[in-house]
Amino acid sequence: MDKKRQLKVQSFEEIVNVLKDESINEMLFKIANEVKIKEFGNVVFVRGIIEFSNYCRCKCAYCGINCNMKNTVRYRMTKQELILAGVAAAQVYQTIILQSGEDLYYSAQMIGEIVSEIKKHAKCAVTLSVGERTYDEYKCMKDAGADRFLIKHETADELLYQEFHEAPLSKRLRCQQDLKELGFELGGGFMVGLPKQTDEILSQDLLTLKRMDVDMAGIGPFIAHPDTTLWGYPDGDAKKTLKVLAIARILLPKCNLPSTTALNVKGGMDNALLCGANVIMQKATPYEYRKLYDIYPGRDARDVPLDVQYIELKQKLEKIGLVAK
Ligand code: 5AD
Repeated sequence: MDKKRQLKVQSFEEIVNVLKDESINEMLFKIANEVKIKEFGNVVFVRGIIEFSNYCRCKCAYCGINCNMKNTVRYRMTKQELILAGVAAAQVYQTIILQSGEDLYYSAQMIGEIVSEIKKHAKCAVTLSVGERTYDEYKCMKDAGADRFLIKHETADELLYQEFHEAPLSKRLRCQQDLKELGFELGGGFMVGLPKQTDEILSQDLLTLKRMDVDMAGIGPFIAHPDTTLWGYPDGDAKKTLKVLAIARILLPKCNLPSTTALNVKGGMDNALLCGANVIMQKATPYEYRKLYDIYPGRDARDVPLDVQYIELKQKLEKIGLVAK
């Protein structure tokens, strides 16, 4: 009880202290789970994600589809293919996510047409995750019916951000602000265990989520990709990621927090759902493209029909007392 009262994670220092204190973990996870249950009960939101292009103009050092990757086999789904895949995914999932590399082949207008066409044929919320665009481009997507937008700040440390992206953090935060202003539900997030990252930076990361007023946050471990310049650095630690997730739950009680695919790769899905996470994303990408969307190794690219994979997950969740929605 005393310890519970001590577990404060509102200020920069408090968060750093909790990150460094390993004796507090059990208490932290327990409280995060209590907060999650208070806000969401035993419900887990399940979303379907379609990765529709792996062309990318960015140079993110950690990412296996960055524009410097010479061995990446590139693909782009056609507008018609994407609409069909979106409508099919919406038969299973209440929210679908359309994600791609930063591929300017798809104009804002084209993305808007895809969103409105999907929504004409299926009842679902549409989340976009297509990277940095201008205010006017985001507006065009919003006007076409897009509901949410995922764009992570990746790391809140300006120097690290610049080093890994060869671009400034301010530009990324500007996009988040624009999206918020336009009325999108905003999904942010960052990686845990990036080379040179410290607990102080992680504390800044968590407070950045709060400052940007995100409605969702994807928090996952860094996983080194063999073709990138960060190969050889150790992967992010699953336990540390769970701690950061648990702090995020306490700091942002109402925020949607997925058990990220990267954390699932590290075997953390069940644990994440018991220490703060309330969302799972499943792949709804057509089979032929799944293996090509290779942002980091170990991702599940099995060919399982959407309804089967959804039912499998639902049953798995039932075993730990959770209900898929
Ligand atoms: N390890 C973990 N996560 C990664 N991402 C990209 N590359 C990696 C990696 N090597 C994450 C980023 C990005 C999301 C699409 O995938 O956070 O926002």
